[in-house]
Amino acid sequence: MDSKEIMEAFDQYVVNTGSRFPVIYDHAEGATVWDKNGDKYIDMASGYGANSLGYGDEEWLHAVIEQLKKFQHTSNLYYHEIGAVVAEKLAKRSGMKKVFFSNSGGEANEAAYKIARKYGNTIADVHKNSILYMQTSFHGRTISETASTGSYPGMEAKFGPLTPGFFPVLINDVDDLRKQVAEHNPCAIIMELVQGEGGVIALDKEFVDTAVKLCRDNDILLIDDEVQAGIGRTGTFFTYEQYGFTPDIVSFAKGIGGGLPIGGVLTNEKTCNVLSAGEHGSTFGMNPAACAGANVVLDRMDDTFLQDVREKADYLRSELLAIDEVESLSGLGMMIGVNFKTRDYAQVVQELCAHGVLTITTHGRLRLLPPLTITKEEIDEALAVFHKLLD
Ligand SMILES: Cc1ncc(COP(=O)(O)O)c(C=O)c1O
Repeated sequence: MDSKEIMEAFDQYVVNTGSRFPVIYDHAEGATVWDKNGDKYIDMASGYGANSLGYGDEEWLHAVIEQLKKFQHTSNLYYHEIGAVVAEKLAKRSGMKKVFFSNSGGEANEAAYKIARKYGNTIADVHKNSILYMQTSFHGRTISETASTGSYPGMEAKFGPLTPGFFPVLINDVDDLRKQVAEHNPCAIIMELVQGEGGVIALDKEFVDTAVKLCRDNDILLIDDEVQAGIGRTGTFFTYEQYGFTPDIVSFAKGIGGGLPIGGVLTNEKTCNVLSAGEHGSTFGMNPAACAGANVVLDRMDDTFLQDVREKADYLRSELLAIDEVESLSGLGMMIGVNFKTRDYAQVVQELCAHGVLTITTHGRLRLLPPLTITKEEIDEALAVFHKLLD
């Protein structure tokens, strides 16, 4: 099929749930992608942050292929070594107790909600099951996540009735947080420490500290959605390390698989035994091939790797700020929101794509989520295009 035929087949046979850039992947290496026409792109989006080690990482490929040669899938009826290895590494690395594996971030947050609801309904001293979420959040696409996602308003009218019992809080508004806790007596609060879809906004430390204290004082579970911000993206393995607390539940996905579908929730002492056999599950969860990829990602993300991520993020940020048209940057580490002084961000994203740099939008600004292994040379190539378009 040529490029035109591929795009036509998508139009004809694929349900349209999002607009695609006119880039037809052919092959890729590092942070560089070549399309069917032989045109080259620097990838500053990495499949919404999932390709954390870029494309074609040899160790990752080898591990996944070797696992596939042994067996590709078991379901949760049986044990396998690579699952045990990854679960142990994740628990030890995060300071959490146990992990439930899913295939995606959405599935991870559903697991978090079920743990929170069961905890509130059957374990907490006071019976409770409402959940607070941040007004500009994004937690996924299921009916419960749509009910707790503020960054895509107007969904109740289209997909309602959404799951009841979810209530919004204004981000970084300590008074509203206290008010909603008092009003709704929640079993859990879910937050992204750096909101991805909501504009790449890092929550204020004071707001997070208040949420942590309210949760501790009132037996409320704090769910930290690190599906986008976790696994090295913000310069530490999990972003909560930078805020100085440990959540009750952490959801993760995207970067952990290096491009294969795997996610999950990490649970602490309080939450690790809430679910019992038969109450939750996922046919493909803990898929051995995805675990083999995750194992390489986990081993790679040592202190040296994360230091390198932080240095490259600092470099990219300072070079972006040196562009006159750039008004300000948001986010943390390699999760970067870019505000322009006069240019329309959505238009800039299209122009960058046409000139060989893949970026994405977020609420109100341009978003960069490059592979964490992007080289300085690749960053410079992308920056040269930013200059060409914006100077
Ligand atoms: C913070 C956050 N949570 C959850 C999700 C949902 O993840 P998935 O698309 O893997 O279901 C996303 C996806 O962008 C996300 O950014």
